[in-house]
Amino acid sequence: MKRQRPSAPAAEAGQPLRDRRQRPWRDLRISLTDRCNFRCSYCMPRSRFGPGHRFLPQTQLLSFEEVTQVAQEALQLGVNTLRLTGGEPLLRRDLPQLVRQLAALRTPAGAAPDLALTTNGSLLTALAEPLRAAGLQRLTVSLDALDPELFGQMNAVGFPVTQVLRGLEAAQRAGFDRVKVNMVVRKGLNDHQALPMAAHFRNTGMVLRFIEFMDTGSHNSWQCDEVLPSRELRERLHAHWPLRPLEATRSGETAERWAYADGAGEVGFISSVSQAFCGDCTRARLTADGRLFTCLFGSFGHDLRPLLRGAQGGPAELRERLSAIWRMRADAYSEQREQLRATQTTTRAEMHELGG
Ligand code: GTP
Ligand code: 5AD
Ligand code: SF4
Ligand code: SF4
Repeated sequence: MKRQRPSAPAAEAGQPLRDRRQRPWRDLRISLTDRCNFRCSYCMPRSRFGPGHRFLPQTQLLSFEEVTQVAQEALQLGVNTLRLTGGEPLLRRDLPQLVRQLAALRTPAGAAPDLALTTNGSLLTALAEPLRAAGLQRLTVSLDALDPELFGQMNAVGFPVTQVLRGLEAAQRAGFDRVKVNMVVRKGLNDHQALPMAAHFRNTGMVLRFIEFMDTGSHNSWQCDEVLPSRELRERLHAHWPLRPLEATRSGETAERWAYADGAGEVGFISSVSQAFCGDCTRARLTADGRLFTCLFGSFGHDLRPLLRGAQGGPAELRERLSAIWRMRADAYSEQREQLRATQTTTRAEMHELGG
C-alpha cells in the first residue's frame, strides 16, 4: 500500500491523517488536572489516592496557552471535537478563560470545534452559566446513583447527590440541551439503581448512558464478574419501557443509542468490555502535564512539553510531532483485553490522569 505522506498538512489537503489501522483522528480529550474532589473506587480508590498522594505540582501543568497550542495544531490535523476532562476539570482555576480560547479556534474549513466537558457535577451550580457564556457547547455529568447513601459511598467523600442534581438543573437553565449523564454500572453495587435512574431522567431532555465497569489504570480492582453486560441491562430496561435502536450520530461514537418507544427520550449503552469499539476509535488524550496518549489503556504518553517549552519548537514542529504520533498508532486494548491482561507487564496510566 502507498505510504501516507509524512508531512503534517495531510488533513488540509483533504486526505485525513490515518493511524496504522486506517483510523482518522477526530477527538482530543484534554485533562486539565489530575486532582479530583471525589474518590470513586473504580477510578481513584482511597487506599491508593489517600492524603499522602502527590498530585502534579502547578508548575508541571500545561498553561492555557500551551493547551490551546496543542488543540490548534490538532484541529489542523483533522480533529473536530475537544473534550475537557480531569480529574475534575472544574477544579482548574479560571476555566471559562480556557473555554473562550478554545472556542475561538477554527478548523481548516473555518468551523468552530465541537467543545465538550465531562464533570462530576459537584461545582456545576456556580460554573454552568459562566462556562456556557464562554462558549462551551456540550456537557456530560457523571452520576452513579440516586440513592443518597450509595452515592455518598461511591464518591467516597459523602458528597450529596442533591448537589449534583442541582448542578444538572443549573446546566439546563444555562442553556445546555441534551446534557448527558454517565453512570458506571458495577454489578452487585449500583446496578439496582439503573431503573430508578432511567425513571428519573426520562422526559427531561437529558440522555442517561450506562457504562460497563472497565479495568482502567492499575488500581481499580477490576473483576470481570462485576461487569453487567449492556445487553442484559438493556433487556431489564426494555421490560419496563420498550426501547428501539437509534442510528449513531457519527462513526466512532462510544455509546449505542436507544429511544424509549413511548417518546420519553433517549438512553445510551457504552459497552467497552462486552463489545469493544476500538475499530473506529478516533480519540487521543492529553494529560494535564502534556503527555499525549493514543489509548485510554496506554502505559506511555508522548511528552509534548519539550516542544511546547523548548527553544526549538514552533507550530510546524508541534504539528509534525502530533501527526507522527497518530500515524504510528495501532492501539486496540479493549479488543485484545484478555490477551493483554495476561501478558502486560507495564503499569497502565490512571483514568484520572488521562480523562474519561
Ligand atoms: P460524546 O458521545 O461525544 O458525548 O462523547 P463520549 O461518549 O466519548 O463522552 P464521554 O466522555 O462521556 O465518554 C463516556 C465514557 O465512555 C467514558 O467515561 C469512558 O468510560 C468511555 N470511553 C470514552 N472513550 C473511550 C475510549 O476511547 N475507550 C474506552 N474503552 N472507553 C471510552
Ligand atoms: N470504568 C468505566 N468508566 C469509568 N469512568 C472512570 N473510571 C471508569 C471505569 N473504571 C468514567 C466515569 C466518568 C468518566 C470521567 O469516566 O464515570 O463518567
Ligand atoms: Fe473523580 Fe471522575 Fe475519577 Fe470519580 S471518576 S474519582 S469523579 S475523576
Ligand atoms: Fe480507543 Fe483504546 Fe478505548 Fe480501544 S481501548 S476504544 S483503542 S481508547
